[in-house]
Amino acid sequence: MSSSSRVRTLLLVLMMASVQICSVTSQTNSGDSAGLKALMNEWKNFPPNWKGSDPCGSGWVGISCTNGRVTSISLANMNLKGTLSGDISALSELQILDLSYNLGLTGTLPSAIGQLKKLKNLILVGCGFAGPIPESIGSLSQLVYLSLNSNQFSGRIPPSLGQLSDLYWFDIADNRIEGSIPVSDGTSPGLDMLVNTKHFHFGQNKLSGEIPEKLFSSSMTLLHVLFDGNQLIGKIPDSLGLVKSLEVVRLDRNSMSGSVPSSLNNLTSLSELYLANNNFTGGLPNLTSLISLYTLDLSNNSFDPSGIPPWISGLQSLSTLRMEDIQLQGPIPTSLFSPPNLQTVTLRLNQLNGTLDFGRNYSSQLESVDLQGNGISVYRQGAQNSIRVILADNPVCRESGQKPTYCSAIQPDSSFSTSPENCIALLQCGSGMISSPKCSCAYPYTGTIFFRSPSFSGFVNSTYFVVLQQNITSFFQRYRYPVDSVSLSNPREDQTNHQLLIGLRIFPSGQDSFNRTGVSTVGFALSNQTYKPPDIYGPYVFRGDEYTHFSDGGNGSKSSNTGIIIGAVIGGIVLLLLLTIAGIYTYHQKKRAERATEQSNPFAKWDTSKNSIDAPRLTGAKAFTFEELKKYTDSFSDTNNIGIGGYGKVYRGILPSGEIIAIKRAQQGSLQGGLEFKTEIELLSRVHHKNVVRLLGFCFDQGEQILVYEYIPNGSLRDSLSGKSGISLDWTRRLKIALGAARGLAYLHELADPPIIHRDVKSNNILLDDTLTAKVADFGLSKLVGDPEKTHVTTQVKGTMGYLDPEYYMTQQLTEKSDVYSFGVVMLELLTGRQPIERGKYVVKEVKAKMDKSRNLYDLQEILDPSIIVSTTLKGFERFVDVALTCVEESREGRPSMGEVVKEIENIMQIVGVNPNTDSASSSRTYDEASKGSSNPYGKGSFEYSGIFPSSKIEPK
Ligand SMILES: *[C@@H]1O[C@H](CO)[C@@H](O)[C@H](O)[C@H]1NC(C)=O
Ligand SMILES: *[C@@H]1O[C@H](CO)[C@@H](O)[C@H](O)[C@H]1NC(C)=O
Ligand SMILES: *[C@@H]1O[C@H](CO)[C@@H](O)[C@H](O)[C@H]1NC(C)=O
Repeated sequence: MSSSSRVRTLLLVLMMASVQICSVTSQTNSGDSAGLKALMNEWKNFPPNWKGSDPCGSGWVGISCTNGRVTSISLANMNLKGTLSGDISALSELQILDLSYNLGLTGTLPSAIGQLKKLKNLILVGCGFAGPIPESIGSLSQLVYLSLNSNQFSGRIPPSLGQLSDLYWFDIADNRIEGSIPVSDGTSPGLDMLVNTKHFHFGQNKLSGEIPEKLFSSSMTLLHVLFDGNQLIGKIPDSLGLVKSLEVVRLDRNSMSGSVPSSLNNLTSLSELYLANNNFTGGLPNLTSLISLYTLDLSNNSFDPSGIPPWISGLQSLSTLRMEDIQLQGPIPTSLFSPPNLQTVTLRLNQLNGTLDFGRNYSSQLESVDLQGNGISVYRQGAQNSIRVILADNPVCRESGQKPTYCSAIQPDSSFSTSPENCIALLQCGSGMISSPKCSCAYPYTGTIFFRSPSFSGFVNSTYFVVLQQNITSFFQRYRYPVDSVSLSNPREDQTNHQLLIGLRIFPSGQDSFNRTGVSTVGFALSNQTYKPPDIYGPYVFRGDEYTHFSDGGNGSKSSNTGIIIGAVIGGIVLLLLLTIAGIYTYHQKKRAERATEQSNPFAKWDTSKNSIDAPRLTGAKAFTFEELKKYTDSFSDTNNIGIGGYGKVYRGILPSGEIIAIKRAQQGSLQGGLEFKTEIELLSRVHHKNVVRLLGFCFDQGEQILVYEYIPNGSLRDSLSGKSGISLDWTRRLKIALGAARGLAYLHELADPPIIHRDVKSNNILLDDTLTAKVADFGLSKLVGDPEKTHVTTQVKGTMGYLDPEYYMTQQLTEKSDVYSFGVVMLELLTGRQPIERGKYVVKEVKAKMDKSRNLYDLQEILDPSIIVSTTLKGFERFVDVALTCVEESREGRPSMGEVVKEIENIMQIVGVNPNTDSASSSRTYDEASKGSSNPYGKGSFEYSGIFPSSKIEPK
């Protein structure tokens, strides 16, 4: 071949290659592709990877597809700027549209949005949209979530929205919506037809006119009616009392009048009632039947003068009482302060007179009593020093001379942050980064949570924050969001509308900033209410701040089409050359990476098939190869998957000997450093105790980190308490389980070498073997004690909400006493059968509040697990409660050691007449065999759902 023909052949090959490259078929439906392009055309910023014409195939940020059709657009906090194109109607399979927290999105919503017939979630929280809400949204018959809050929408509520028969969440709060609330009239639809809707969030608009009597009926299932901060007039419709499901009603800051209807007494589930700042008249309403009420706010109305009504002290759940400036007269009965959950009482600007006396039976939760501007002449101060009392502008404070503190009208400042102080002191983060609760520097995604009617008032106290922070963190971790940790800051009450505002910082996991997908999925979890806080926090709205540190580059910009075609052939040639170079480079990189892995792998030189010198110092634990474990678990098949934890999945395996083993396989992302893993194995292999799950071996092979444990057949204590495992636990068995677990922990603290703090003691981590012997499991989080290189200030607070030692949480100082606290919670779980936090109630607090030491069983019958009351006389019960409560003492000095706990439980068993050293099952009657083998030891039930998109019907409360 001549040299010229050789060149020609080469060129031809290159051109064919480039044609190949340019004609890769698109996976995206062409209409959808065009639709997205049209959206992009109206936007100044968009994610930088929005390039080419195959959004599904090339993984555009925020786009999800099914079979080439775009089903979800999730672009929260992407700093989008521009308008929403009507061409969005091309995306006819779209189910989710979330553009929240893009303040730069302005203009009106196109009416064409009504053509997206499959749409379920329309979420445009905190954007800059204006103009009317399109009437056409009423034809989105599958719509479940409609969140248009915090924009500048104006005009009326379209009556057509009454046709949204599947609508669950209806939020148009914080806009400029005007006119009256539409109801149906035979020809036109109205909101009275929304019988499946749970949430009417219409607050902070300009709605006017009367609330139609027709709006409410007994077929409605509303939980929240939030109409606060509008211009509504007229009476509260009597029909409101027909909606028995209601939990929160806010009508405050309107211009409503007339007397409050007594039909409200039918709302026995109501926990929040805000009627403040209206012109209600007549006598104070008698709300004696609202037994679930946490918050009652009647302030600033024109009620007839009256004394403090006696029914208020009968509201057993009451936490916040606000009755400012409503002509209350006469003395304050001592009983007013007796509801056991009462925290805040505000009775400013009334004509209350006589003596202020808390008496003896005032609520132990009471934090603040504000009586500024009344006629109180005597304050009988008792031992209640912790209550913040304000008596400024009362006769009692008119004496001259030195004024006591209660005469000051200024409230102490409340500030609290969950950011650990010692991190901040230890760690100076550079270039605008912030230290996470786990003490790593990063750029968090930030924003503010607005709780629209929290059920607690003393938010000065940090407990609510710790619980909330734990709850948010565990949500993100459970559902595998790319989130490392979460901190809260700067809680404040918006004094006008009594919302609670809390700053939220969400830290990225594994890197110092989020990429776009990370921010949009996290943003969606909050905009869509996928995250649901515990009940007491009530409904919330999140407002995300602009995020400026995306790890996937700067803001996208318009790319031009010019030159694409001209460049194609040249590009092809260049590409081919680049590919060749890249190939060589990759090969070298891979080699280098392999060398690096070898260096960072402490087992690298250790041949796992033979026991050679470099092996970790193991006692009794065996090294398995990955291939072996694959064989034992049938290639990690789903049928052998028996559970899941924070670090990865747990499988059951069968050794050739027939022995069953439990295999914990760390997933990518929760792998430790090789050295850490080695340390952990060495530690675990030295732990040998009857009440501690035994490590049989491990695998550090092919990039895997796997721990192999003995298999514990009867599942976790939680499974038994919840009835899931089918094993019933009578009083004696409970005592034995408590004793076994206590002995296991005492061993770890006092006899293991080096001593070990478990750090995650909970009923899910106490497993029961076939004789119901308790075994403490899951040392994933364990910390060595007395390791000279580590101080006891830990770098990250770990543990599980509800079990977490508050002192450890606040100070980050980890001691054995943190395990003691968690164990105390487990003891209370054994008594009550409940999870530590159930329906927003914390078992420790509940027991303390209910307990009366002068009565039989300390008067705790009401909250005991019914299955222990029936079966036996509960000998030793009171002593058991006593131990549990000393374990959960606030200060760790007050708590016993695990060894002392063991001794005391042994003493209790003597009283009961049971030998503490026999097996539980053999000493009691046989237990239900049916459960054997079917349950799993690691609590599969704790894993519910791993997707990002919620099933839309889950209750957001
Ligand atoms: C309030 O209503 C209850 C039940 O309707 C009634 O028993 C009680 O006497 C009333 N209290 C007052 C002060 O009117
Ligand atoms: C308190 O006020 C009431 C009514 O305003 C009045 O009848 C009563 O005498 C006052 N009591 C005292 C101790 O001032
Ligand atoms: C917060 O709670 C703790 C423990 O329950 C208590 O000691 C403290 O006084 C409370 N703080 C305030 C400001 O009430």
